[in-house]
Amino acid sequence: MKPISTRRFLQIAGLAVAGILLAACGKKETPPPLAPAPVASAPAPAKVYVVGTDAAYAPFESQNEKGEIVGFDIEVVQAVAAKAGIQVKFVNTPWEGIFNALGQGDRDMVVSAVTITDERKQTMDFSAPYFDAQQLIAVAEKSKVAKFADLKKLKVGVQTGTTGDEAVTKLLGKASTNIKRFESTPLALKELESGGVDAVVADNGVVIHYVANNPGGKFRTVADKDFVPEQYGIALKKGNTELLEKINKGLADIKADGSYDKIFAKYFGAAPAAAAPATAASK
Ligand code: ARG
Repeated sequence: MKPISTRRFLQIAGLAVAGILLAACGKKETPPPLAPAPVASAPAPAKVYVVGTDAAYAPFESQNEKGEIVGFDIEVVQAVAAKAGIQVKFVNTPWEGIFNALGQGDRDMVVSAVTITDERKQTMDFSAPYFDAQQLIAVAEKSKVAKFADLKKLKVGVQTGTTGDEAVTKLLGKASTNIKRFESTPLALKELESGGVDAVVADNGVVIHYVANNPGGKFRTVADKDFVPEQYGIALKKGNTELLEKINKGLADIKADGSYDKIFAKYFGAAPAAAAPATAASK
């Protein structure tokens, strides 16, 4: 075995020391291992606005056989959302509590054939009006009722907390036990069919739709020009101006480009101007 020379030993030792130093230096410059790479390029998931609707109010909002929420209001909001470049999803929400859900932020909007009233304006914001409406009376075919005032001594069904409820409460008096309040308008109309109430007061569009689709119910409608004209708006949480502006812009866009008229014609069979509430409601 050949002994290594002192020179060779120093060479090897030197290389070894240099190697250690290099390794040490190298370590210092290594970035912290496996720091997660920043994902700057992935877009934040788009916000989906939650729209509350009491889907027992055909033809404005109802559930089809598949459980999907459909109707005039739904198509209007979908068209508005498309113009505004926002995403929406509809959540069936009972009428009682629908405005609380809005106030608490559980819903971003409410579209539910909501009449714009001064009282509601104090606790929520409304879009520009998108539909004209009026109260309409439903009675049995053989009923003698000819005008709203004729309901004064009768049992009247309404949906709790609606403008129909308000009108009837005003006529019959706050303390009247003749006002029968229901959680939905269809329930009130069922009660009319079974004779539990003598009349129902509700939005014209819904009453007309119900009477037309339930010929077996033997109903008749009674219009009264004393009912104040109403307008539907999309309700938003008070102060949500950014969303409100988008909605109003979208509404203006769908009115300008004819898509609103198309949706209107699909549900009400004529252009809005030709189907003023008074005309639609008479008989
Ligand atoms: N327009 C009436 C109101 O604002 C009734 C609306 C009820 N809407 C509904 N989807 N149930 O009081």
